[in-house]
Amino acid sequence: MNNLVIRPATLEDFDIIDQFQVGLIEFERKFDPSIAPEKETRYYPRGEIEGLIRAKSLLVAEIDGKLVGCGFGKVEKVDWAEPRESGYIGFIYVLPEHRGKGVATAIISKLVEYFKAKGISLFRIKSYSDNERAINAYKKLGFVPYLTELYLKQIHQK
Ligand SMILES: CC(C)(COP(=O)(O)OP(=O)(O)OC[C@H]1O[C@@H](n2cnc3c(N)ncnc32)[C@H](O)[C@@H]1OP(=O)(O)O)[C@@H](O)C(=O)NCCC(=O)NCCS
Repeated sequence: MNNLVIRPATLEDFDIIDQFQVGLIEFERKFDPSIAPEKETRYYPRGEIEGLIRAKSLLVAEIDGKLVGCGFGKVEKVDWAEPRESGYIGFIYVLPEHRGKGVATAIISKLVEYFKAKGISLFRIKSYSDNERAINAYKKLGFVPYLTELYLKQIHQK
């Protein structure tokens, strides 16, 4: 798509990025009963988003000058791993009317390219196991499922 632009987010983009976050949380509620019901619930507080923007680690996608999606990458260090540093990709979100056009693929490819140039050779991304669309998109980029997290919810009787 030739009118698609992927660029680092700026602080002026904050309000729209915050709407993307609300959209992501609303979308993921069906996969995760532990997400708090409050409308103000955020995965990433304002300071964290601003930090990612300042580090140029949060990318936005624009189509015809309108923001349609986002995603960030950050380097994680783990002492027991080889390689010790890996690139963690998160907050992948595309507006419903722009899905299926290659926007997420373009954002993730750009993040991978950027971190590869910094010497990172291993990348991680998380998804709820029932989010087939996201998992399909990530598999198409070469990601392979490797971890399953389980939860047990106990009902406490009064
Ligand atoms: C998951 C999401 C980010 C994918 O973004 P997208 O821009 O639509 O993805 P792309 O257009 O780059 O599609 C890449 C691949 O995803 C898969 N995909 C896209 N639309 C799909 C659909 N309707 N059903 C199943 N798979 C689909 C396909 O494998 C596609 O490759 P193809 O078009 O070559 O066949 C987007 O649907 C979204 O924002 N969903 C809600 C939030 C979310 O789930 N975020 C991810 C959290 S882990």
